[in-house]
Amino acid sequence: MKTLLSHAPRLGLAFGVALAAGLLAGCEVPPQKSEQSGYRGTGMAQITSPETLEKIAAANGIPEAQPDADDGGPRAKEAYQNVQVLGHLSEGQFLRVMTAITEWVSPEQGCAYCHNVENLADDSLYTKKVSRRMLQMTQAINTQWTSHVAQTGVTCYTCHRGQPVPANIWFSDKGAQTAGFAADPSGQNAPAKSVAYSSLPRDPFTSLLMGKGQIRVNGVEALAGKPGEPIQSAESTYALMMHMSTGLGVNCTFCHNSRAFSDWAQSPPQRVTAWHGIQMVRGLNNDYLEPLRTTYPAERLGPEGDAPKAYCSTCHAGVNKPLGGVSMLKDYLKELSPPKP
Ligand code: HEC
Ligand code: HEC
Ligand code: HEC
Ligand code: HEC
Repeated sequence: MKTLLSHAPRLGLAFGVALAAGLLAGCEVPPQKSEQSGYRGTGMAQITSPETLEKIAAANGIPEAQPDADDGGPRAKEAYQNVQVLGHLSEGQFLRVMTAITEWVSPEQGCAYCHNVENLADDSLYTKKVSRRMLQMTQAINTQWTSHVAQTGVTCYTCHRGQPVPANIWFSDKGAQTAGFAADPSGQNAPAKSVAYSSLPRDPFTSLLMGKGQIRVNGVEALAGKPGEPIQSAESTYALMMHMSTGLGVNCTFCHNSRAFSDWAQSPPQRVTAWHGIQMVRGLNNDYLEPLRTTYPAERLGPEGDAPKAYCSTCHAGVNKPLGGVSMLKDYLKELSPPKP
């Protein structure tokens, strides 16, 4: 007992050193790079870590495009039995896109991930039904949301990166069980990865990236008789902003002049692109992803029984332009845009 006690201070010191090392391991290694993005003296700068950028660049390579296919001959809807979305393609183009989506979504599992290989027209696998909707979603992103994705557009690979389940997805999370100092944690007050380990609400997404919740801190009108935005709205706004910053790998000043967060006139143009991104993500979650709930098997659903959904990092994966702004779509324009009327 005596010997143990006399070791206590040293044990404590060793523990402290180990803890500090552990905590610091999570930090980025200097030197940091700072790039000015606004007028001098306004603090408008992006701070990046060359080491992190190198890692991100390595994770953002893209697969080579499949060789071009002949546009001639019968259409896929005539050549095959059960083609509902890609019927406007030639047979060659149809098989080219099948090969591509296999590489983008299920390279290890192959065609059999979506197909009963005895009968390719059969729709019995849920993955095939989900994919058909994914094709429509991808076509919609590339034509209806150019206000966000520009001509760069997206392919299945933007989100999937060679895996059936994209790395960055979210589920509703009321977090009722989370421990914290508050008597009623209200889905916050316990550091959560979804909001960059802050104790802000862990799920600002259900209300702000699905619902029509207000992304607002300051009231837009003078207070006379009208209450401003409630404090909860400020908390979920900041929580969403944490996700947007980490999801794109940028500082707040990428989209805001930090002396006036709410003022659009002082904000960089990226904030407008981000605004369109928020509207787009709401559309994708409401019109495509959540309605797939009844198509997925139970093990794919979240703890509250909702379908897996998208947010900024689903496409961005820590980069301000997904895949470094390289367009994979340009090689699949006909396949991943709806047929011209
Ligand atoms: C990620 C899912 C997925 C993978 C992997 C996949 N397919 Fe498909 N396949 C589909 C979907 C969805 C359709 C229906 C498309 C439509 O309705 O426009 C389809 C339809 C087909 C059809 C038409 C069958 C018919 O008669 O209706 C053929 C042929 C086909 N795929 C071949 C392949 C081949 C060969 C591979 C592997 C190289 C493959 N697919 C991999 C999702 C997939
Ligand atoms: C905006 C991002 C996004 C794009 C683009 C996208 N997907 Fe998905 N995909 C998702 C999300 C989110 C899920 C849900 C993940 C899950 O199943 O748990 C999903 C699920 C799937 C699944 C079900 C996987 C499983 O095992 O449950 C298949 C198959 C699939 N996508 C195919 C495709 C194909 C094919 C394309 C291109 C035509 C595509 N996706 C484009 C986001 C995307
Ligand atoms: C990728 C762009 C982007 C990044 C990064 C970003 N924001 Fe925002 N922010 C927006 C957009 C867009 C809105 C407006 C949303 C709306 O009006 O629907 C907004 C709104 C806000 C508001 C509400 C303003 C008001 O009118 O009440 C605050 C506060 C805010 N952001 C703070 C931050 C903070 C703090 C950070 C860094 C942690 C950050 N933002 C990072 C784009 C961004
Ligand atoms: C479906 C995929 C997808 C999703 C989801 C998505 N984005 Fe984007 N975003 C893109 C693409 C593609 C571009 C590149 C467009 C271009 O080349 O100009 C882009 C560009 C941007 C830019 C401009 C970057 C720059 O350097 O100018 C901002 C800001 C941005 N996105 C914010 C967001 C925010 C915030 C969210 C979540 C609310 C989001 N995005 C969700 C695909 C996506």
